[in-house]
Amino acid sequence: MSVALALIEKVARAPKAELHVHIEGTLEPETIFRLAQRNGVVLNYPTVESLRQAYEFHDLQSFLDIYYAGTSVLLTEQDFYEMTVEYLDNARANGVIHTEMFFDPQSHTARGVGFEIFMPGVLRAMKQGEANGISSRLIICFLRHLPEASALETFEQARGWFTRYPEQIIGVGLDSSEQGHPPSKFTRVFALAQQAGLRLVAHAGEEGPVDYIAEALDILKVERIDHGVRNLESDQMIARLRDSRMPLTVCPLSNIKLAVFDDMRQHNLLALLNAGVNVTINSDDPAYFGGHVNENYAALITALDLNEQQCYRLLRNSLESTFASAELRQSMVTRLDQYWARH
Ligand code: HPA
Ligand code: ZN
Repeated sequence: MSVALALIEKVARAPKAELHVHIEGTLEPETIFRLAQRNGVVLNYPTVESLRQAYEFHDLQSFLDIYYAGTSVLLTEQDFYEMTVEYLDNARANGVIHTEMFFDPQSHTARGVGFEIFMPGVLRAMKQGEANGISSRLIICFLRHLPEASALETFEQARGWFTRYPEQIIGVGLDSSEQGHPPSKFTRVFALAQQAGLRLVAHAGEEGPVDYIAEALDILKVERIDHGVRNLESDQMIARLRDSRMPLTVCPLSNIKLAVFDDMRQHNLLALLNAGVNVTINSDDPAYFGGHVNENYAALITALDLNEQQCYRLLRNSLESTFASAELRQSMVTRLDQYWARH
């Protein structure tokens, strides 16, 4: 076996955390079709193949249009349960021992599917995952292309749920179309979330300017930046991220599919890692971007010729950057260290 293949194998079986995955982005075309048939939803694509062929994106918006169309098949508690179970099983097969998943309530409430339908399904799957050896948490994301008033309404709808399930629903995030929707648009709702004791993250620097990263840090007070790789030529920002050990949840295959970088060899992940930035590897929307977290590691190892030490650092960063308790984080790092020493 070549050195790169051996390393890809070693990383694939290593304990790791996933910190940037949209549950709705884990819906495989086959699942979309199965649920559409079960629920009597008519799709614009006659076959699974034609849907899959439509997965040709040139930027974030061209992806989001299809992604939101895909969510239209989710109608019942059972649908949300099955989607989450399928992701957690896949994640477990990827060595993921802890995952912090994004969820987009507004893409469902806008269709008349409320918290009382999707929350029990997602929570039931998370409980089952826990019994199967994967711990999971939920981060409720606000759609940034909608007004802050809609986010505030969603936050109030969520309040009863995160109050009742504080161990499961741990934070809020910000996703959807980035350009023209700066983090500062969501100042009030993030302040309320912080007051409620929730953890804070936001997508920034996926397509938007470095100023959006600064706003997410300074105004929203986020504790992780989702993506954060685009337009990151600012030495000042790189030094700031490095010195504060601010985690960046990087999604390499997503970045290629959405043309953030032309080619994996041009990805700045290794440069950021070498600069001492706390970068982590994640799948974003695995059903749309060509693979789960292990495919992301494999693509990077191949394109950027990552060595064993660099892979260890990425895995360790993922575990250390979770919002798990200090005890759980420590025990997960110990698991990684034991695995790494034995293989
Ligand atoms: N970026 C922004 N919003 C999203 C994404 C993404 O990659 N995936 C799902 N919603
Ligand atoms: Zn994302």
